[in-house]
Amino acid sequence: MKVIFFGDIVGSIGRKGLRLAVAEVKQKIKPDLMIANIENLAHGKGVTEKTFQEIGSLGIDVFTSGNHIFRKSDYKKLLPTKKNLLRPANFTGDVPGHGWCILEVGNIKVGVGNLQGRVFMDMLVDDPFRKADEIVSQMKEQGVKIIIIDFHAEATSEKQAFGWYMDGKVSAVIGTHTHIQTNDARILPSGTAYITDVGFCGAQNSVLGVKKEGPVNMFISSLPVRFDIPESGLVLINSVYLNINKSGKATSIKPINYKFLI
Ligand SMILES: [Fe+2]
Ligand SMILES: [Fe+2]
Repeated sequence: MKVIFFGDIVGSIGRKGLRLAVAEVKQKIKPDLMIANIENLAHGKGVTEKTFQEIGSLGIDVFTSGNHIFRKSDYKKLLPTKKNLLRPANFTGDVPGHGWCILEVGNIKVGVGNLQGRVFMDMLVDDPFRKADEIVSQMKEQGVKIIIIDFHAEATSEKQAFGWYMDGKVSAVIGTHTHIQTNDARILPSGTAYITDVGFCGAQNSVLGVKKEGPVNMFISSLPVRFDIPESGLVLINSVYLNINKSGKATSIKPINYKFLI
């Protein structure tokens, strides 16, 4: 099974770039399944009905997210109703939405899960390691062999440890959240594809997708700054291309990146 996983899509420039990248990917790779992290879809924070609709026609099968998913109030309508729009499964309390889903790809069941790390993150969440075991066993009870996990976390140590903890239990652990693609994509010894962070889809000449002036001023001044998203310019699309066999073992993982002028 050929799978493409796109990193966090940031703002309208990210959405426009994604549209171009999906067209290329469909033509050149013909993936069986596409997954994208959309926690930054609507002007960098959260998701709205309008922005979700905008990318809804591209043929992406599952949408994952992270700490920014509740930043726009449309989450109240979207998360309970869209079973393929995930928020981390280890969020605490009575939060709407689903942390994992199972879909049929051809006649093969595929499970996708979303978890968030605890180190250097601005939210208190439950233990992602134990929660991952819980959701993976629920998926396996339903006969799912191919399982892909989006681990949305900041610390490289926590992400690597999570990858090792899940090796052999799932088909892939794909890191998201830092918006910087790491150079460590590989298959772990027991057959799990791993990358610490897949990267992002957004403005290349930015700081993690926002206009560079804001973060630069934040680091040189104590004054409050405004973060904005570039509307045009170079857009960088970071993704990984996975091959997974029917027994759920990954056979390859390769970064696929594009640049377009918007
Ligand atoms: Fe993000
Ligand atoms: Fe995040």
